[in-house]
Amino acid sequence: MFIELDRESRIPLYTQIVDQVRDMIESGTLGAGDRLPANRELAKALGVNRTTVTTAYAELVADGLVSSEVGRGTFVNDIPVKIKKQADGARTQPSPMPWNALLTEQNRNSWISGVLHQRPGEETISFAYSLPQAELFPLDDFRRSVDRVLRKEGRVLLQLGLSNGYAPLQEYLVSQMALSGIRANADEVLITNGCQQSLDLIRRILVGPGDEIAIENPTYPGALSVFCGGTNKFVSVPVGERGMDLDVLEDVLSQRRIKLIYTIPSFHNPTGATMDTEARRRLIELAARHRVPVVEDDIYREMRYEGAALPSLKALDRYGLVIYINSFSKVGFPGLRVGWIAAPPVVISHLNRAKEEIDLHASLLTQAAIYEFSRRGLLAKHIKRVKKVYAQHRDIMLEALERYFPEEAAWDKPEGGMAVWVRLPERLSADQILVRSAEQGVIFSPGHYFYSSQPQQNMMRLSFTMTPPALIEEGIKRLGGVVKNCLSLVKKQRAASAADTFCALV
Ligand SMILES: Cc1ncc(COP(=O)(O)O)c(C=O)c1O
Repeated sequence: MFIELDRESRIPLYTQIVDQVRDMIESGTLGAGDRLPANRELAKALGVNRTTVTTAYAELVADGLVSSEVGRGTFVNDIPVKIKKQADGARTQPSPMPWNALLTEQNRNSWISGVLHQRPGEETISFAYSLPQAELFPLDDFRRSVDRVLRKEGRVLLQLGLSNGYAPLQEYLVSQMALSGIRANADEVLITNGCQQSLDLIRRILVGPGDEIAIENPTYPGALSVFCGGTNKFVSVPVGERGMDLDVLEDVLSQRRIKLIYTIPSFHNPTGATMDTEARRRLIELAARHRVPVVEDDIYREMRYEGAALPSLKALDRYGLVIYINSFSKVGFPGLRVGWIAAPPVVISHLNRAKEEIDLHASLLTQAAIYEFSRRGLLAKHIKRVKKVYAQHRDIMLEALERYFPEEAAWDKPEGGMAVWVRLPERLSADQILVRSAEQGVIFSPGHYFYSSQPQQNMMRLSFTMTPPALIEEGIKRLGGVVKNCLSLVKKQRAASAADTFCALV
C-alpha cells in the first residue's frame, strides 16, 4: 500500500491517510477482504506517530469502509460497486500517471473535502454535520411545487436561460431582504449554486495573486478551502464571544493592504458567536475607513431560536461595501444548491460573468421550484416547524452536556445556529476523543477542521440538528463517558508526571 504524505500541507496527516486509503478502495486498488498494514507497521513506514494511523483507521471504520477485528487486523469491507469510481480493470492496471504531482496546490489543500467525505454508518450517532434533519423535509409539498412549475412553464425551465437567475426568484429575494432592512434591486442580486459557489465567485473577481484577505479564525472550512488554499494569502483574525475580534482587525487593516474581509456575523460556524449591533456598526466603519469590502455570510440568520433578530451588516451599510451571501441550505434543503449574492450592480455584473464561465447558470427548474414553494408560504411554514424542533434539540444537547460532560469542559448556549462549540481541558485532543467515541458509535467534528492557523486541538463542534432527541441524549452520554475517561487518564499521567501529550491513550 503506497501512501505519500505532504508534511507541508495544512491537511492533518491522518486525514491524508484516510483520503488516500479511501481513494484506493474506491478505485479498486484495494478490494474487499484486503488487509491494511498493522498500525505500528504503517506508522513506522510513514514516519508518523502510531496514534496518527490509529485515528485514520478509526475514521475509515466510522465511514464503513474498513472493519477492525481484534487480534486479526483491519480489513477492507465489501462496499457497493456503485461507489467505486473506476471499473475493476483499474485494480490490475494501476495508472502510470503521477496525478498527485500534477494536481495544483489549491486542489491538494482542500479543507472541505476532509469534512464532506466522512459519512457515518447507519448505526452511528452523528454530531458531525450542521445539516437539516432530512426526516423533516416536506416531500409532498415540494413535489407539488415541482409539478406546478413544470406544468406552468416546463418548456422555459428546461431550456437554457439567463445567467443571473430566474427573475421571479430574484424579485422574491429582493422583497424578502427588504423585510430585514436590506435595500437591493433585482439587478443587485445574482442567483448561485449556494454560498459555497458564491464564495468561489467572489474570490475569482476580487482576489488576485498576492492579495491578502482577512478571515475569522476559526471559520467555516468551505471558506478556508476557497480563500486560504494553495498559495492564497490571508490573515487570521480571532473570534471571541462577540464574533470577530475588531481590535485585531483594526490593527490588521492599518498595517496591511487587505483585499477583503470574510465574516459570519450571526451564529458563527463553528463557534455560534453573534456580533452585536454595535460591533456590526464598528466593522462597517472600519471597512469604510480602509475601503475594504466585507463579505457577509448570513446563512444562519433564520436559525434563531431566541432573542431579537439583529440587523445584517448589509442593512447597516451606507457605503455599498458589503457583499451579502445567503442560501436555502440551512432553512430548507442543501441538496437543492440554491443561494444568492446581493451586492452593488458593478460587482454583480462581474460575478455574473464569472458564473457564466463556470456553469452558465443555476438550474432553472430548481430555482422555480424553490420560488413556488416559498411564494406559497410553504418555506415560511417549514422554517417555523424546523426551528421549533432544532431549538428542542439544542436544549436537549445542552442539558445532556451539563449532565454527562466533566465540569472542566465549557461551552456557551448559542441563541441560534446548528451546533454547540465545546472547549475541553487543554491537554485533551478532540482527535483522540473522536477515535474512541467512533468506537462507541458517536462522531463529531474535531475543532482543528475550522482553523486557518494555530488549530486548537481541544475544541469540538457538536451539531444538534440532524440527530433525533433520544439519540442526542444517548450520544452525549457516550461521548461524555469517553471524555471523562480520557481526562482521568491524562490526570493520572500528569500525576505520574510522565507524559507530555495524550498519545498513550490509544
Ligand atoms: C457559514 C457557512 N457558509 C456557507 C455554507 C455552505 O452553504 P451552501 O450549502 O449554501 O453552499 C455553510 C455550510 O455549512 C456554512 O456553515
